[in-house]
Amino acid sequence: MIGLNRPARLHHLASDSSDTVLKRVFPDWADRARIPLFATSKELFVDANLKGFFGRRFADLHGPELATMLDSIGKGLVNPWSRLMPLWASQSGRSMQKAAKTIKEIIDAEVTQRLRNLDEGREAGDYLTGLIASNEAEGYVNYHEQFLTYFFAAQINTFPTFAWTLLHLLRNPEHLASFEAEVGSNPPDVDGIYPIKDMPFSQACLRETGRLYNNLITLRYAQNDIRTPSGFIIPKGFVASSPLTVAMDPELYEDPGKWNPRRFLPQAAGEGEDGENKNVPRKSYATRLRDYEFVQFGAGKHACIGEKMTHSLLRGSLWPTLVDHYSLQLVGSENGLVEGVGMDGVGVAPNHGESLGTPVGMNEVYIKVTKREVPLSLAHHE
Ligand code: HEM
Repeated sequence: MIGLNRPARLHHLASDSSDTVLKRVFPDWADRARIPLFATSKELFVDANLKGFFGRRFADLHGPELATMLDSIGKGLVNPWSRLMPLWASQSGRSMQKAAKTIKEIIDAEVTQRLRNLDEGREAGDYLTGLIASNEAEGYVNYHEQFLTYFFAAQINTFPTFAWTLLHLLRNPEHLASFEAEVGSNPPDVDGIYPIKDMPFSQACLRETGRLYNNLITLRYAQNDIRTPSGFIIPKGFVASSPLTVAMDPELYEDPGKWNPRRFLPQAAGEGEDGENKNVPRKSYATRLRDYEFVQFGAGKHACIGEKMTHSLLRGSLWPTLVDHYSLQLVGSENGLVEGVGMDGVGVAPNHGESLGTPVGMNEVYIKVTKREVPLSLAHHE
């Protein structure tokens, strides 16, 4: 293992990301008349994820190239030809093979260079440095696939979750106001990290986006019969489930098509499922997870190992830093939105089935980012 969830690593990741976006990324966004939300979020996370795994120099040098290759792999993995036939037999399969080989070469070259010059990254705090420092890089050959899988899994899920949440907030001024108020009353620490334990609303937003933008289908091979929570037995063999269908079940979620983060807030005294109906108790996250009603990060043996990393990066750093220092608007009539389309009529449909992991928008939408004169967290405390 590469110590993905060690608190010091997560701390470094969040702190370094806050620093980078404050100094480099968000000022650049604000200089532009408008930015494409999905494409820009993708660039942001290629940089943040690569930096987290391999360090700043590596991210600067290889970010765009690796992003293109990840796209090839992603397209190959969802393309019916490369799924059904041997990889060499289709164009998408061959592109995928080529991309995976090139990524391996790039990562191998980096590791070889870092092992030759051990001082280079000593203070860097990225995961590769940690691996080298713990003398585990000797067995690096066993970690190569792991790095690639981690980077891929992190990338395909984090950036769409980041972007959809911002879009839904922008379409729901009341929720945006709650998000801003929470950021305003929770200033970052000296390392630029926001106190996520005291920020339940951003947690609820992360979950609500995960509910609506989940996998269409999850496929598993069951080695034994499986007993479901209700006692039903699923016989040994291939098992398909649809987390998205479960998430849209009105018996499990009231008004399921609505993006309503409040359904995931801890229940206030006397409050019900929809915030008003006192007769329906709101289910806790733990209960929903136990009953497989909510599997944003998967469940069981293959559950996500990046959940903590996601909270640190999105909730501890990127979302609050952006909202604290900048105001966001959808840009005029050319914002790319179509009234009534998409989840909760957000204006753009998710490309379920065309992307692996969390879907992205079928088309691009545009936002304007404007620097605040005073950050929300400072204004609140003045
Ligand atoms: C919003 C962010 C994320 C979401 C929604 C998400 C979701 C998921 C889901 C649903 C699974 C289970 C897939 C399945 O059962 O087939 C999974 C697995 C996985 N995730 Fe994540 N993930 C996120 C972020 C990350 C990050 C930041 C990493 C960084 C390392 C990561 C690494 C992995 C890995 C390695 C697996 C495979 C685990 C296994 O097969 O044993 N994920 N993720």
